[in-house]
Amino acid sequence: MTPDTSTKIALSVDNLVVRFKRPRASDVQAVSDVSISLPEQSTLALIGESGSGKSTLARAVCGLVPATSGTVRVAGVELSQGKNTARDAGAAGIQMVVQDSGGALNPRWPIWRTISEPHRLMNKRSGAELREFAAQILRDIGLPVEFLDRYPHQLSGGQRQRVNIARALAAKPTIIALDEAVSALDLSVRNEILGLLARLKAERQLTYLFITHDMGAVVQIATHVAVLYLGKLVENGPVKEVVQDPKHPYTRALVGAVPTIGKQRKAAVLARGEADDAGAPPPGCRFHRRCPFAIDLCREAEPQLQEFSGRQIACHRVQDIDDLFFEGGKP
Ligand SMILES: Nc1ncnc2c1ncn2[C@@H]1O[C@H](COP(=O)(O)OP(=O)(O)OP(=O)(O)O)[C@@H](O)[C@H]1O
Ligand code: SF4
Ligand SMILES: [Mg+2]
Repeated sequence: MTPDTSTKIALSVDNLVVRFKRPRASDVQAVSDVSISLPEQSTLALIGESGSGKSTLARAVCGLVPATSGTVRVAGVELSQGKNTARDAGAAGIQMVVQDSGGALNPRWPIWRTISEPHRLMNKRSGAELREFAAQILRDIGLPVEFLDRYPHQLSGGQRQRVNIARALAAKPTIIALDEAVSALDLSVRNEILGLLARLKAERQLTYLFITHDMGAVVQIATHVAVLYLGKLVENGPVKEVVQDPKHPYTRALVGAVPTIGKQRKAAVLARGEADDAGAPPPGCRFHRRCPFAIDLCREAEPQLQEFSGRQIACHRVQDIDDLFFEGGKP
């Protein structure tokens, strides 16, 4: 999103590159020179197809994968990039909640222990104090205290996800990265968890990095949206601009594919075929093979992010395409 000097920045990521080695294949640059910044108490939704680098970006921010280059700053203070560990990120105030796959919680620990473990590691506390600490957080996230002595297998998916959120809160974060945190849940539970996240954000002045494929959830809770394509940021700005009025052909395709959001939109674009291999992205604009507007320039030169209509966008033809849609034309 575009930096706003009038608000404080909770998290800034500058020129982040994360490259993975692959056996018998070219390296994958999963995150390719990405810069984003999250104002305090914002929710930045990170969207893009599978393999676009969303989780890798979040994991690098949380110190769970090493960055190849670039910096991550929390409230202006740089984490030791490259060597940034989950412990460093946690101490700086960043926690992560992932999709509930049943495996995120230790199956042998009762809930009170799972929730109080970060507190135990940071402070010497008696067992009774740790239970009371866990009980307080359980109340905050809407689970009865009887759950303290239950085990993960005794909980529903929604309850487990509340416990995952509780565990993150126990470390007193200012920033939480939520990677598909509501994706495995049925609709009513998903809505409850989205409501819980909104309440916690307001009560605790949290900032969220919210990764999802669920465009409805983006509209519900995001303040800003960043769109990744094969590791590159292609569009980035306030949710009102990017989702209600997308300008990049790829964002137009993503939003246009969601019936409840896209169907009223005459700006929808159909992306051709499948994404290229992230290990061998095409030259020029990485989206050019799928873009109905591609011209020779797109095949030769990589578009840089530029300011356009209240957001950042990387497309050589953004003005032409906008004019085309404004005139009601079709590609
Ligand atoms: N540990 C790893 N080793 C090698 N390649 C990896 C590793 N982790 C991710 N990748 C590759 O990096 C790219 C980005 O993956 P990532 O999981 O970040 O995408 P994503 O946007 O989160 O996808 P999804 O929506 O499916 O979760 C993919 O090409 C993936 O195969
Ligand atoms: S730069 Fe060219 S290929 Fe890429 S999105 Fe824009 S028009 Fe399409
Ligand atoms: Mg992912």
